[in-house]
Amino acid sequence: MGLVGAGFVGPHHVDAVRRLGFVDIVAVAGSTEASGRQKAEALGARRGYGSYQALLDDPDVHVVHNATPNYLHYEVTSAALAKGKHVVSDKPLAMTAAQSRQLMDEASRAGVVTAVTFNYRGNPLVQHARGAIAHGDIGTPRFIRGYYLQDWLLKDTDYSWRLDTEKGGASSALGDIGSHWCDLAQHVTGLHITHVLGDITTVIPKRKKPRGSREAFQTGDAQATEEVSIQVEDLASVLVRFENGAKGTFSVGQVCGGHKNDLVLEVCGSKASIGWRQEHQNELWFGHRDRPNEILQKDPSLIGPEARGYAHLPGGHQEAWADAFCNLMRDIYAVIAGGTPYRALPPTVATFADGYRANAIVEAILESAKNGGVWTEVGA
Ligand SMILES: NC(=O)c1ccc[n+]([C@@H]2O[C@H](COP(=O)([O-])OP(=O)(O)OC[C@H]3O[C@@H](n4cnc5c(N)ncnc54)[C@H](O)[C@@H]3O)[C@@H](O)[C@H]2O)c1
Repeated sequence: MGLVGAGFVGPHHVDAVRRLGFVDIVAVAGSTEASGRQKAEALGARRGYGSYQALLDDPDVHVVHNATPNYLHYEVTSAALAKGKHVVSDKPLAMTAAQSRQLMDEASRAGVVTAVTFNYRGNPLVQHARGAIAHGDIGTPRFIRGYYLQDWLLKDTDYSWRLDTEKGGASSALGDIGSHWCDLAQHVTGLHITHVLGDITTVIPKRKKPRGSREAFQTGDAQATEEVSIQVEDLASVLVRFENGAKGTFSVGQVCGGHKNDLVLEVCGSKASIGWRQEHQNELWFGHRDRPNEILQKDPSLIGPEARGYAHLPGGHQEAWADAFCNLMRDIYAVIAGGTPYRALPPTVATFADGYRANAIVEAILESAKNGGVWTEVGA
């Protein structure tokens, strides 16, 4: 593998792939020769490059992981596909739905394995919930609700490239974490979101931007700053409709104190409800009407057969974010190593089509909000 973009999440791609045991960590590309070398050394990669183009020219790199800021996603992924490399892109697949659609076409022409890291799919209890819903355990999904809240942009001294439309795109919180919620809701229920009605807010319209660069989740310090106006949302609430007529609602915000990486998804069906909370990810809640509610603890001997392969430790031994991330890599690299056609990726792995869909949903929400909060169809 070769990694482009070794900030916050890039090193987790390397860790996850390294755990597979059969993949050589060939190279890391940074934005300069010095950063490429230094990051390669820190991550134990054999070579460091000062540009992604140099990494793509390395014939030993067969799989490119794109963990750059959003504005480079299209450019890096497109160039990797043109070289016939397999691509694992972090989300969002691209800055716009139009760009993602182009990447879908380029990927199918290249005939390589492509994936987007909507990593919560890799959690064993998420897979169990998906299986339970598919088997009809909660009946027909009627109401799908939840939120994804964080607090790392709570203060006006908090800043990220995600807040700059040139680097992050037209949306911030929705594109960054709302896309995860939507992907998860669709994956777990097996239902597409067809319509949205959005209410979006910029709670902090002016922020103090550090004059130097800063990677994600680094907190404010005494660095020199300049005041900048923020055009993108840091808080949003959305009503959603699913293809079977089910209704839903979710909120996202990165300005919500105490919520670190708090993703909640609940599906209320015609017989029962099911709920999962990322910050307590080893537990799955089942809500009943005529008997006591239940909590299923993650335990390979208690979860469904389709989920069992995603749990690697016995009950009571907690598995977490990095393990779910590794599960995705295991699925992706099994297909690459097996040489099976790229269409054979298991459903746990989000495809470029799923990446496109996430962009299209976010764009529909922005459109809905711009028009004063009206129901808006998600582009097909
Ligand atoms: N799947 C997830 O849960 C998850 C979590 C965090 C971030 N992400 C996504 O991953 C991407 C990166 O986010 P992050 O939080 O790691 O950001 P970050 O700012 O911490 O890291 C980005 C890195 O890319 C490097 N970079 C910039 N330009 C480059 C270039 N031309 N060539 C090579 N490297 C370059 C930066 O120096 C930095 O090290 C984003 O698109 C984000 O949406 C996904």
